[in-house]
Amino acid sequence: MKLLVIGANGQLGWALGEKREKSGFNLERVDLPDFNITDKVNVSRQVEKSDPDLVINASAYTAVDKAESESELAFAVNAKGPAYLAEACASRGIPMIHVSTDYVFDGEKKTPYLESDPVSPLGVYGKSKAAGDDAIRNLLSSHVIIRTAWLYGTHGQNFVKTMLRLGKERKTLRVVADQHGCPTYAADLADAILKISRHILNGSHDQWGTYHYCGQGSTTWHGFAEEIFNIAGTLIPLKVRKTEPVSTDDYPTPTRRPANSVLDCRRIKEKFGIRTRPWKESLAEMLKILLSGEGRLDV
Ligand SMILES: NC(=O)c1ccc[n+]([C@@H]2O[C@H](COP(=O)([O-])OP(=O)(O)OC[C@H]3O[C@@H](n4cnc5c(N)ncnc54)[C@H](OP(=O)(O)O)[C@@H]3O)[C@@H](O)[C@H]2O)c1
Repeated sequence: MKLLVIGANGQLGWALGEKREKSGFNLERVDLPDFNITDKVNVSRQVEKSDPDLVINASAYTAVDKAESESELAFAVNAKGPAYLAEACASRGIPMIHVSTDYVFDGEKKTPYLESDPVSPLGVYGKSKAAGDDAIRNLLSSHVIIRTAWLYGTHGQNFVKTMLRLGKERKTLRVVADQHGCPTYAADLADAILKISRHILNGSHDQWGTYHYCGQGSTTWHGFAEEIFNIAGTLIPLKVRKTEPVSTDDYPTPTRRPANSVLDCRRIKEKFGIRTRPWKESLAEMLKILLSGEGRLDV
């Protein structure tokens, strides 16, 4: 069975590629500049040429703050691109797994977000992702949209690598402590996506729609940073001695982030038997790979 993965050079796309051999699938991985999801004709032609059984869209415009000044590009990649992919899948009668974000919510809810909660994005990135999700729902019934959060992997830039870099340079760091979320390891999400692909392609699946998947347990960016330093400090020398908790107001950014990004992941467990992994356990695994030399050391 053949899977076409778009956005192969991103954090998630890379993690999917690393599972290629074990997955048992024929995984074709594409990315810019050869496969540009904002080019409708190209999308249709490339999907036809690839002739996959299922499409996984791991591509996105993910620069949350920059999106405020690059709204057109963010909507082209996150809203129009997924629509073109959905159309191409619909015309070939194949399903699609698409990845979305916790940033479609405004964070005002006091408990974990359910798939059925109304979206209310705070910035351009979240709005563009929500528009992409809606387009897929309208164009392709055989879709699975997975909302995830606070994604990090061994490949690409992310919060973990930023903290490691700063932790080597500075004694004290100030980190936001009033935004709550669930760190998600790209390799875990890749496993979940491959398991869902198996369900779909062996015909045992009739539950299309939207699902949440993120690391188990929640924390703040400050708590996440402290755990990164706890674990990394046993593996490499760090300069950092203190992480000061600060509020969102102390650290203004072009886009407001949701105060609560915690996603309820019960539905994906009920429908696909997918269990989420404690976020600290996944982080320890990632750091071991990254810092012991097995992974990429571009931190
Ligand atoms: N990162 C997070 O914290 C986070 C949180 C929640 C949800 N998500 C979602 O999770 C998914 C995976 O995120 P990620 O962190 O793996 O993203 P990422 O590392 O930014 O990777 C996205 C990939 O998509 C490619 N891309 C951008 N524009 C494209 C286009 N026009 N055509 C084809 N490919 C294009 C990028 O290429 P270039 O690098 O060359 O632009 C990159 O290789 C996304 O849907 C994202 O919205 C991410």
